[in-house]
Amino acid sequence: MTHPVSKSLWRKVTLTSACAVALGVPFALSSPAFAEEETTAKEAAAPAPAAEKPKIDVRKLFAMNCSWCHDGYGMHAGKGPKLAGTQLSHEQVYARIEKGKSGSMPGFGKVLNKEQIQAFVDYIKGLPNE
Ligand code: HEC
Repeated sequence: MTHPVSKSLWRKVTLTSACAVALGVPFALSSPAFAEEETTAKEAAAPAPAAEKPKIDVRKLFAMNCSWCHDGYGMHAGKGPKLAGTQLSHEQVYARIEKGKSGSMPGFGKVLNKEQIQAFVDYIKGLPNE
């Protein structure tokens, strides 16, 4: 003997799952797109990749390391000489900053990295000689 109840129940179940599949397929198809969108948003919010060098703020470094002896960001003499228009070459300026000068100027080779010292050299050699 058949059970009408269970038969209709079975039909209900089949219908429901068919429905779920019908709804589920487009959703499943669209979800990778959602995931992709999420990753892009996360990447945009993330800090700059390590390969990109942070910009060196020479004036800030100058204020922190040099201003107590070299006035006006190198434009005026203080305890140390005016740096604008220095007769020293790029290499000599680099060496001076890295090693200092015994008795008059401390060396900054341990405080500043190569890129920072180089940035100072470019900055000092680029100062207008007035
Ligand atoms: C404690 C004081 C002092 C500090 C700090 C100092 N200097 Fe000097 N600096 C001097 C003195 C003094 C001289 C001159 C030395 C000499 O030739 O007798 C000098 C000379 C120089 C020269 C050579 C200039 C020339 O034409 O002969 C450069 C370049 C220079 N300093 C850059 C810097 C930079 C860049 C910083 C910061 C990273 C710095 N100094 C920090 C005291 C200082």
